[in-house]
Amino acid sequence: MAQHTSERVVILGGTSGIGLATADLLLDRGFEVVVAGRDGERLAQALKTLAAKGEDRPVTGATVDATDRAQLGAFFAQVGAFDHLVVTVTRNGGVTSLADLEGDLVREHSEGKLLAQLLAVQAALGTLRADGSVTLLGAVSSQLSGPGLVLLGAMNSAVETASRILAAELAPRRVNAISPGVIETPWWDWVPQEVRAETLAGATSTTAVGRPGRAEEVAHAIAFLVENGYTTGVVLPVDGGARLNIQR
Ligand SMILES: NC(=O)c1ccc[n+]([C@@H]2O[C@H](COP(=O)([O-])OP(=O)(O)OC[C@H]3O[C@@H](n4cnc5c(N)ncnc54)[C@H](OP(=O)(O)O)[C@@H]3O)[C@@H](O)[C@H]2O)c1
Repeated sequence: MAQHTSERVVILGGTSGIGLATADLLLDRGFEVVVAGRDGERLAQALKTLAAKGEDRPVTGATVDATDRAQLGAFFAQVGAFDHLVVTVTRNGGVTSLADLEGDLVREHSEGKLLAQLLAVQAALGTLRADGSVTLLGAVSSQLSGPGLVLLGAMNSAVETASRILAAELAPRRVNAISPGVIETPWWDWVPQEVRAETLAGATSTTAVGRPGRAEEVAHAIAFLVENGYTTGVVLPVDGGARLNIQR
């Protein structure tokens, strides 16, 4: 049942996982949604999934690589005026010790996570409503100090810090970030099946709520940041308490 006026939301990364769940929730709440990712087949599948949930749902999509400024410019020109930007793009992998850290890996993660999110916001500014909102995605690794997190923690800290600074720089547009814990999404597909199962099970012993999270739970938090016109400069943890360093 639609609860909202037809505000438009662009979700870069809306073809999978947290972005897809956010698209579904915001459509339920009466928003018009544009989803985007790089892969055309993934986009087509996402549009099919979203459209199957209700007739005439106002959802469209396009392919775009958020690391490419020219593609982003063409994408936002095609989208036209809109009210809210959500950026859930990411780079898979990145767990490494300092000893094994390769320069190329750092460059790939800088590009795929930090640069992509910043370029997306920059490219959106021409058509994003003057008092609209931006929601970026960091991760709980920004708060942790476990083995292998040097790169992911640094990248997600950078995104979360950038969101706070952009809230000041881009005001009165609102800018916030979500800091998710371990969430069951296709993000984990790069991990071998047994390691994936072990990691997701690990979230049972290392979170206060005792389980990994669901994409829908992060989507609820994103919807809050999109809808609440008096919240800006916030990094909102949705991690089941993972940052509390509980060990059972
Ligand atoms: N899942 C977790 O446990 C977890 C935990 C903490 C933080 N996060 C963060 O939450 C966000 C969403 O993660 P998720 O789990 O939903 O990941 P996901 O299921 O892998 O979805 C990522 C989405 O981003 C798109 N994408 C990736 N790179 C892109 C690029 N350069 N340009 C355009 N689209 C791009 C992907 O589509 P294409 O591949 O087709 O481009 C896909 O739609 C990410 O920033 C991630 O780092 C996730």
